[in-house]
Amino acid sequence: MTFTAPITLPGLALDPQWYRRAVFYEVMVRSFYDSNGDGSGDIAGLISKLDYLQWLGIDALWIPPFFNSPLRDGGYDVSDFTSVLPEFGTLEEFTELVTKAHERNMRVLIDYPLNHTSDQHDWFQQSRSDPDGPYGDYYVWSDTDERYPNVRIIFVDSEESNWAFDPVRRQFYFHRFFSHQPDLNFENPAVRQAVLDTVSHWMNMGVDGVRLDAIPYLFESDDGNGEGEPKTHEFIKGIRAMVDRDFPGRILIAEANQWPQEVVAFFGTDDEPECHMAFNFPVMPRIFYSLRSQHAGELVRVLAETTEVPRGAAWAVFLRNHDELTLEMVSEEYRQAMYGWYAYDPRMRSNVGIRRRLAPLLDNSRAETELAHALLFSLEGSPFLYYGDEIGMGDNIWLPDRDSSRTPMQWTPDRNAGFSTADPGKLFLPVVQSLVYNYNLVNVESQLAQSRSLLHWVRNVIHVRKAHPTFGLGTLRVLKTSHESVLAFVREYAGSETQFGDSAENVLCVFSFAHNPVAVQIEIEGYAGSTTFDLFGGGDFPSVGDDGSITLTLGTQSFYWLHLGDRRP
Ligand code: NOJ
Repeated sequence: MTFTAPITLPGLALDPQWYRRAVFYEVMVRSFYDSNGDGSGDIAGLISKLDYLQWLGIDALWIPPFFNSPLRDGGYDVSDFTSVLPEFGTLEEFTELVTKAHERNMRVLIDYPLNHTSDQHDWFQQSRSDPDGPYGDYYVWSDTDERYPNVRIIFVDSEESNWAFDPVRRQFYFHRFFSHQPDLNFENPAVRQAVLDTVSHWMNMGVDGVRLDAIPYLFESDDGNGEGEPKTHEFIKGIRAMVDRDFPGRILIAEANQWPQEVVAFFGTDDEPECHMAFNFPVMPRIFYSLRSQHAGELVRVLAETTEVPRGAAWAVFLRNHDELTLEMVSEEYRQAMYGWYAYDPRMRSNVGIRRRLAPLLDNSRAETELAHALLFSLEGSPFLYYGDEIGMGDNIWLPDRDSSRTPMQWTPDRNAGFSTADPGKLFLPVVQSLVYNYNLVNVESQLAQSRSLLHWVRNVIHVRKAHPTFGLGTLRVLKTSHESVLAFVREYAGSETQFGDSAENVLCVFSFAHNPVAVQIEIEGYAGSTTFDLFGGGDFPSVGDDGSITLTLGTQSFYWLHLGDRRP
């Protein structure tokens, strides 16, 4: 099969750090829009909605796996890494998606679960039936199920061991996730080459980046815990070297759900870089913790541990995604508090986390939702939205596993929420019909018609962020405040780090997690006498005092983004 090469973005060569300024949007093909009425979203459907995403201000799409798969783990169980699941479309349609996105100056990132395959993958079928054949050593086989005792189980709700017995080969195989997802054997050079070939395959198809799924788990060792082992980092450096050499301007994003210093390691170093971006798993749960504890302290602490990253690296900041809100990397005390606040019904829990969408987590509070988004859009790094959260979509905790928050996008109040013309019973998942989040009420069409809707608010905040390069390119310095519920930091950008000639700008960001109004004094060293104004409406605010502090009052769960004028010499 031959394809016309998709157009590449002119900006790619000009702005190799585009990802530091971009707003990303995670969109699951299956859930977004069904173009042919078969009950499942597809690539053609996604193409038809690019105008909407462009209107919203999205610069880059992250598309979870759309490859051939038995879909027993939402497509993260891949049976062929270089093809498209027929239900979703064809490779030609995928290249059309890339072209159409690029025409809109929007980038496309795919998701690559390189750690494992589906047990339906031909490699596994050959490996189990022909141990001496070319694929015999593609997976991690053992005569016992006792190797790697320090490796934790991730899917604790469904798996009791990281080993499963294969009755065909009569050996155990290793799996970090579901038992139908055997781990690839990265000790095998052929496996490593196959991974490099897959990355090249998709980059040759024009994709602008790859999310490296479950990246800490590639290599295991007898003494280690199988998370971020030295050989894993070595291999990622190799992927990065290939991308820099063959596909400059394209990026790698690490999905590493780990403690702060371990996640930071996936950026590599200035001399030996690994991923351009890494999801900020340390910060995410602490945003939710702050919202309910009314304390900014935990966020302040974790920000201090995550601000030192190599040159050019960027955090991928997110509130929710297609997985449960993971609580693996927080203390037990913390976790119990989070369960109490956010998952009081056991149905809301999944593995070590909470399987709910943003709006229901925040009990549909507009103030909390705006506050959470204000953090998302001003913390160091680039924001990642999850489809549907821009309209405050609800979830369905009666569906199994993480399907609770993967239901069809709600476009209109019509049949199937305008997602599909199929018989409602044929949909891959039912649309949300709950009392509060019913698609009759929560949908794109009705929010477009209300100027004060969440959708318009989110679009506005995206555009304000994009008008101020300091949010993407500036540094972040946490400030001392007089109130435990208030987080304040200054984003500082000296300007013209890119050829776009961006001007320097310093912005003071203040967030109150208190459940009632507060007054707070903030110390902004180096800004004595600076004028301030609000970035949204332009209104003047008090100047910073001669002692370098400013006193502000904030309403319940509210925030300010204030431009800091010239410092007094
Ligand atoms: C991480 C993905 O985000 C998740 O959805 C998946 O189940 C696991 N990796 C296993 O692939």
